[in-house]
Amino acid sequence: MAIVSLVALFILSVGFAKIMAICVNWMCALRLPREFVFADKTLNLVLITIYPLVLLYGLGPQICQEHSWSDIHPAWWPPIALGIVGACLLISSTVRYWRYRPACELSVSSQLVDLRTSPDWQLRLIGTRRRWGRLAALPGNEQFTIEVSTRTYHLPCLPACWEGLSIVHLSDFHFCGRINRAYFEAVCDQAAALQPDLFVFSGDLLDDQDLLTWLPETLGRLKAPLGQFFVLGNHDWYLDPEQTRREFIRLGWTDVASQPVTLTRPDQPTAPPLILCGDETPWMGSHADISQFPPDALRILISHTPDNIDWARSHGIHLMLAGHTHGGQIRLPILGPIYSPSRYGCQYSAGVFWREPTLMYVSRGISGKEPLRYNCPPEVTKLIAVRPDPAMLRPMQ
Ligand SMILES: [Fe+2]
Repeated sequence: MAIVSLVALFILSVGFAKIMAICVNWMCALRLPREFVFADKTLNLVLITIYPLVLLYGLGPQICQEHSWSDIHPAWWPPIALGIVGACLLISSTVRYWRYRPACELSVSSQLVDLRTSPDWQLRLIGTRRRWGRLAALPGNEQFTIEVSTRTYHLPCLPACWEGLSIVHLSDFHFCGRINRAYFEAVCDQAAALQPDLFVFSGDLLDDQDLLTWLPETLGRLKAPLGQFFVLGNHDWYLDPEQTRREFIRLGWTDVASQPVTLTRPDQPTAPPLILCGDETPWMGSHADISQFPPDALRILISHTPDNIDWARSHGIHLMLAGHTHGGQIRLPILGPIYSPSRYGCQYSAGVFWREPTLMYVSRGISGKEPLRYNCPPEVTKLIAVRPDPAMLRPMQ
């Protein structure tokens, strides 16, 4: 009986931890100062640690020795209720994680590129500039195992002239000094080899403004026939976003958060254009003004956070590319990701989602402030859009 009670306490503690994770995910989705977010994360970790100890100290003797849950003092009801609600939410998010199927996906070819091939890989890749860089060398850490993939999707409403449009989507570099520039150069080599029509970067370049000097040798080297386009993220907003923006532009990248860009096929100038717009809300700027978009244009949104999916849907965006969530960085066995900084929690932590009329791709990104990745490798992804074949059309998921 004591074992059953201890298991019940464990489940309540896990449920409480889920509630705390939901709070952190919400906080990181809001326009809050970096110090506030850091304090919130710290407080959450303290509460997650304290909760089981308090429960064990306060209720342990009663439920383990007297085997009675029925006459618990009412003061314990709120924390117990939190634990029960959290456990239910954890079950719900776990079911959603296992039921996830990539939407509109026609084909995938993917390979894992392990950068730890030479004996001196730690010396080359792990930075000494900041503490905690050694986390990257932990056994099983996938930080230096990049998934390079080419994914083809049906995109309803894709104009014929844009059939086969290819985009390499990169996100969340987080230059902070815990990982050396050599890693990001290798990432960009992989991206360049994919030879897309255009490159897209969906924000969070920096955690240390001094490392903006790494940009020319990394993203600054990428060139595509239709161009290179970027938005910034909340970690860029914490620093000096205007300096970062200027450096991107100097290197030939186009800032789509400031103004939408119209692209046309050089050989078909009268065909429907492609409109690329950006969204850095809630941290910077405002949603794009789409009132002037031609009705037949292909509309692509680059948004740092997937939380702008509702705006994209209500404004007829056809394809939305986002980052910010890093796929959760650590995906637990069975449970999947726990931390994913979004109003939707882990629902849009990574992958492709069809939310009519918008197809959204959320990248796991390249790195993070903490160089830790389990069951969640960094990704360099080339997306190819094709028109659905009416004869083969299946219901969208
Ligand atoms: Fe990020």
